[in-house]
Amino acid sequence: MSAVDVFYGAEVEIREANPDDAEAISALYAWHVLNGRASFEEVPPTVDEMRERMQLVEKQGLPWLVALYRGIIVGYTYANLYRPRPAYRYTIEESIYVDASMTGRGVGSSLMTRLIELCEKGPWRQMVAVIGDGNNNSGSLRLHKKHGFEVAGQLRSVGYKLGDWRDTLIVQRPLNDGDWTLPE
Ligand SMILES: CC(C)(COP(=O)(O)OP(=O)(O)OC[C@H]1O[C@@H](n2cnc3c(N)ncnc32)[C@H](O)[C@@H]1OP(=O)(O)O)[C@@H](O)C(=O)NCCC(=O)NCCS
Repeated sequence: MSAVDVFYGAEVEIREANPDDAEAISALYAWHVLNGRASFEEVPPTVDEMRERMQLVEKQGLPWLVALYRGIIVGYTYANLYRPRPAYRYTIEESIYVDASMTGRGVGSSLMTRLIELCEKGPWRQMVAVIGDGNNNSGSLRLHKKHGFEVAGQLRSVGYKLGDWRDTLIVQRPLNDGDWTLPE
């Protein structure tokens, strides 16, 4: 599976991630862990740890996608189960990261469009995202609103990173019928 979007005259390819991508994904994410406020991790995961995370997502039958620009991974997104307890089984949580030098150019939007398409092929009914430092993360908020998410709530000062308290914004959007119908 792969999709291609035109991007400033070149092409961004969106495809499913494979274990060999773990190194590039780890490097991309490490920047956000060390310098950004969106991730509440403080120590970047190793390549092996990232590969294990990818395997867990795959085991759930959920997608992990990468965006490539001129063959280089410039972004990724995935969905995982929101919580492990069984009543949450129709709800998934999405995460998305774009290389810090490539933001604001449509990569995130291309990834999100494809992720939602794929997740709507499964049984899930709600997609949630937890936006770290949400009130200061206008890029993420804008991206999510553009793709049908609404703000469902805010947790105040639940994070402490880079010398300050950080809120989270919880956003969600229905998948397919959402809660209009009951699942089978
Ligand atoms: C959030 C993130 C994934 C968005 O990816 P992106 O490639 O920059 O997003 P896009 O270029 O596709 O932009 C999507 C929309 O958001 C807007 N946007 C992007 N960055 C913005 C910013 N800093 N401020 C305001 N709006 C912004 C774009 O204008 C676009 O809206 P439009 O089509 O109406 O103009 C990326 O900025 C990122 O990795 N940020 C750090 C990590 C993060 O916050 N991840 C999300 C965790 S929930």
